[in-house]
Amino acid sequence: MNTHDTPAIAVHGLHKAYGHTVAVDEVSFTVARGRVLGLLGPNGAGKTTSMRMLLGLASIDRGQASIHGRPYAQLADPVGTVGAVLDAGGLHPGRTARQHLRIAAAMAGVDAARVDPLLDDAGLGQSADRAIRTYSLGMRQRVALATALVGDPSVLVLDEPANGLDPAGTRWLRTMLRGFAAGGGAVLLSSHILAEVAQVADEVVVVARGRVVGSGRVDDLTVHHGGDLEAYYLDLTAENAEVR
Ligand SMILES: Nc1ncnc2c1ncn2[C@@H]1O[C@H](COP(=O)(O)OP(=O)(O)O)[C@@H](O)[C@H]1O
Ligand SMILES: [Mg+2]
Repeated sequence: MNTHDTPAIAVHGLHKAYGHTVAVDEVSFTVARGRVLGLLGPNGAGKTTSMRMLLGLASIDRGQASIHGRPYAQLADPVGTVGAVLDAGGLHPGRTARQHLRIAAAMAGVDAARVDPLLDDAGLGQSADRAIRTYSLGMRQRVALATALVGDPSVLVLDEPANGLDPAGTRWLRTMLRGFAAGGGAVLLSSHILAEVAQVADEVVVVARGRVVGSGRVDDLTVHHGGDLEAYYLDLTAENAEVR
């Protein structure tokens, strides 16, 4: 197969159980280069677990997950291929944003000169030398996203990246991700909030209780559901509602 036809991200028949809890049940989707796919679903739907399996952070019971045609563990240059944010709360509280990015750059083997522009693009130039413990959740999300971009990846995997962002932050995220996709990058992002996904994603995959319950292009879904994407989403997930 021509490598250019290989999806940037491909997940097929992914399955994972924790004891009697089926966290992810036969989930399949692909993300092409230049596209943003939103994984949308209520809490406990299996979004984080799917991403962790894609990134080799959780074992896969059944199915396959690949990035540019390979399992994450077999990528020749993982940091230069995939940028990920799974837990913006996991940043070292005592470090400054600049220190955090410099360490990430050193670990990725990229020039430290990349750090300042990334901080500026993330709107962190003014606060880059303050300890991360003093940052709001939105600022931590910005640091985490800047860190994900350190290796100049072609794929971004972002778990609830809009969480904690104010309207300016949400706009920054949208602009950044649309620019990343316009440059040929592929983005997989998750959210439990429809509006966050609808404004940035080309396509959505709706998951509930581990299963894909709907999917499509945001434009088409909006047209087919009388402009009311939210009603569609709530209908889909209500049938599968069970607080977990
Ligand atoms: N490490 C784990 N051990 C046990 N259960 C887990 C673990 N991680 C996730 N789960 C369960 O798997 C289900 C899916 O969780 P998760 O992928 O975090 O959902 P989401 O990210 O969509 O909120 C939930 O029922 C959750 O409690
Ligand atoms: Mg989650």
